[in-house]
Amino acid sequence: MFTRRKFVGASCAIAAGALPALRLRAQELRPSIVDNGRTTLRSAASSHGIVYGSAVSSPEFGDSDFCATLAREAAILVPEYEMKRAIVEPSRGAYDFSGCDRILAFARRHGAQFRGHPLVWHKRNPDWLEETVERTRDETLITGFVEKVAGHFRGQAHSWDVVNEAIAPEDGRADNLRRSFWLETFGPHYIDIAYRAARAADPGAMLVYNDWGCELGAPANDRFRAATLDFLGQALGRGVPIDALGLQGHMRAFGTPVDQEKLRSFLGHVKAMGLRILVTEHDVDDSGGPSDVALRDRAVADTSRRFLDVMVDAGVVAVLTWGLTDRFLQSPGWRARIGGYEPRMLPLDTGLQPTPMWRAMIAAFTSQRIKPQ
Ligand code: XIL
Repeated sequence: MFTRRKFVGASCAIAAGALPALRLRAQELRPSIVDNGRTTLRSAASSHGIVYGSAVSSPEFGDSDFCATLAREAAILVPEYEMKRAIVEPSRGAYDFSGCDRILAFARRHGAQFRGHPLVWHKRNPDWLEETVERTRDETLITGFVEKVAGHFRGQAHSWDVVNEAIAPEDGRADNLRRSFWLETFGPHYIDIAYRAARAADPGAMLVYNDWGCELGAPANDRFRAATLDFLGQALGRGVPIDALGLQGHMRAFGTPVDQEKLRSFLGHVKAMGLRILVTEHDVDDSGGPSDVALRDRAVADTSRRFLDVMVDAGVVAVLTWGLTDRFLQSPGWRARIGGYEPRMLPLDTGLQPTPMWRAMIAAFTSQRIKPQ
């Protein structure tokens, strides 16, 4: 069972690491207050020094059953889309934090933490941005935004995905960086200035580099892992303030599996650089499999477990799923690509009942063999 002492111990262990001490936030010291003695993802993870949570969007707060479940299960929330620049800065200099503020308020009410995602990404930007960046070559289009957003939430964010998805070996550059408008305009330097601005704007928050491509066992993933290690090593060598690597963890139950040995070895290298590790967007797409729900559920659960066992073993500090329940999967966006049958890709089904994935995650959290970072 979760105890305050255990949790403070875990937090101190984190603060005593090679990285700059992170502020202990008030809500981190609160025990899991809403689980009423029953096992939840939140309580299972936190009893092993891991913070479990979910992406959420503020319109979902209109569903009271969901709210109660979210409060019980999640100890950290991240905006699913409401921190994307297209939403936050729809026209230049006009900021809208309303969705993010609602998510933060919900988190605070329920003793949960909050994380920011993403500050610099090549997708989901307002129409005016790319053209303005290319025309003006004005670095404050990066630094100003980072200062404004990280500054708005200063002292309240567990962590920030400062740069999202900057690596793309298939783009053919020697440094494996993605040929985005950010890179084409500013060169690799855009990454450095983003992290420096984030550190200055919210000095106590963990600064994360977030990407997908390291998780699976295909040759393309081997290249992606090598590129990521190279990128992180170079950035840290230049003194760029990156504290952690986020693996998104978008999986397919009937796709390329995780190669546990490759993943384990990769995470060892990441930790040897002094970085922490997070799972930031885990879900398991169940398309392409048999129509039998039990078989698909089993494959989803096994896929999640195979991944999370390694992540937990490596001392992951936070695990977030990209949504808590299948209930909202029909909304347009990320999930709309899934068709054919009702997707079941998250820990709770549309009736908010635990799926085999939920049980697999609890098992992964609680069968941890080594201490968290
Ligand atoms: C997706 C959201 O779920 C959508 O609602 C949005 O329209 C586009 O972005 N990797 C990421 C996330 O880093 O930000 C993406 O989220 C999913 C893939």
